Amino acid sequence: MKIAFFDTKDYDIESFDSLVKDTDIEIKYFEPKLNIDTVKLAAGFDGVCVFVNDSITKEVIDELYKNGVKAIFLRCAGFNNIDLKAAFGKIHVYRVPAYSPYAVAEHAMALYLTSNRRIHKAYNRTREYNFSLSGLTGNDLHGKTVGVIGTGKIGRIFINICKGFGMNVIAYDLFPIKDSDINYASLETLFKESDVISLHCPLTKETTHMINKDTIALMKKGVAIINTSRGGLINSEDLLDGIKSRKIGSVCLDVYEEEGSLFFENKSGHIMDDSTLLQLIAMPNVLITSHQAFLTKEALNNIAKTTIDNINKFYKDEYNSEYEVCYRCGNEAHCAKKRNAKCF
Ligand code: NAI
Repeated sequence: MKIAFFDTKDYDIESFDSLVKDTDIEIKYFEPKLNIDTVKLAAGFDGVCVFVNDSITKEVIDELYKNGVKAIFLRCAGFNNIDLKAAFGKIHVYRVPAYSPYAVAEHAMALYLTSNRRIHKAYNRTREYNFSLSGLTGNDLHGKTVGVIGTGKIGRIFINICKGFGMNVIAYDLFPIKDSDINYASLETLFKESDVISLHCPLTKETTHMINKDTIALMKKGVAIINTSRGGLINSEDLLDGIKSRKIGSVCLDVYEEEGSLFFENKSGHIMDDSTLLQLIAMPNVLITSHQAFLTKEALNNIAKTTIDNINKFYKDEYNSEYEVCYRCGNEAHCAKKRNAKCF
């Protein structure tokens, strides 16, 4: 099984190389992301392995299919960057549904703690022997209300972390967990009552720009917004307006709607063309990491293990239905996965 591996980073090679030794899998690592300009590199390969910012549009899928690629192996959970409808019937799509929900939930809290207690500012100050405390005042977390949107694997761990700090937790999910001890509320109530809002739902048609000028208007003055999910959940222009009007007190972002060509890359020394990101970074109450929440040793190891397992099972025709995705998944009557162990 020859795999074209796109958007390769040094830590990917480290975790994958040790696992493919002594297997029938041959990986060719490519630095560029998979998109319409680079898809030709995949000619002659059986499968492609991609990450969050590869752009697998209908055109890319048609080209992959023409070139004999049979499967796409996502080394991530989200699949919003793949046109699943275009892939259906042509190319099987596998993902890694969970690699370390702890990594992401812990990073969300790390971002918030850093921002709230101004740790990033204090770190820089003390390195220059500036021991002043001016401007470093934070808030107690204890007793504050946190609104968690999406109570899946990551959201639930984040809820437990918040409870550990003595926060009141309210949550919203399109599919609330029945008989759980999670205190569900309507989205409107969550926006109105939360001191801190953390996003842990996927990017879908319904969730795109769920944080916008109308929902920001509902929020408390001084609200903190944390997004470790997908950039498209937030309308960045409206977010910026909310910060400028002093409605939003602080913002912690690990993802950004237009991150595709920027995050994961060293752009220092380049002129930043994205004026929205430029302004966000310039704000004293905005803390940004570049899609780093997943990056722990445990997560990298799990990503590599599950991806290699997906490739092996596909190669040996032992389909792992659990990890295949198609645009009909979730619709029992239409997705063949439950019956045939594969989506088509
Ligand atoms: P999950 O699938 O376990 O949970 C997602 C939850 O969102 C589910 O409970 C689902 O019912 C809920 N949901 C779906 N549509 C919704 C809607 N319209 N409104 C509210 N809730 C809705 O996913 P998991 O593992 O907890 O991941 C959450 C998100 O975190 C992923 O979608 C992904 O985008 C992001 N992520 C970010 C990473 C990073 O490094 N920054 C790494 C891994 C995931």
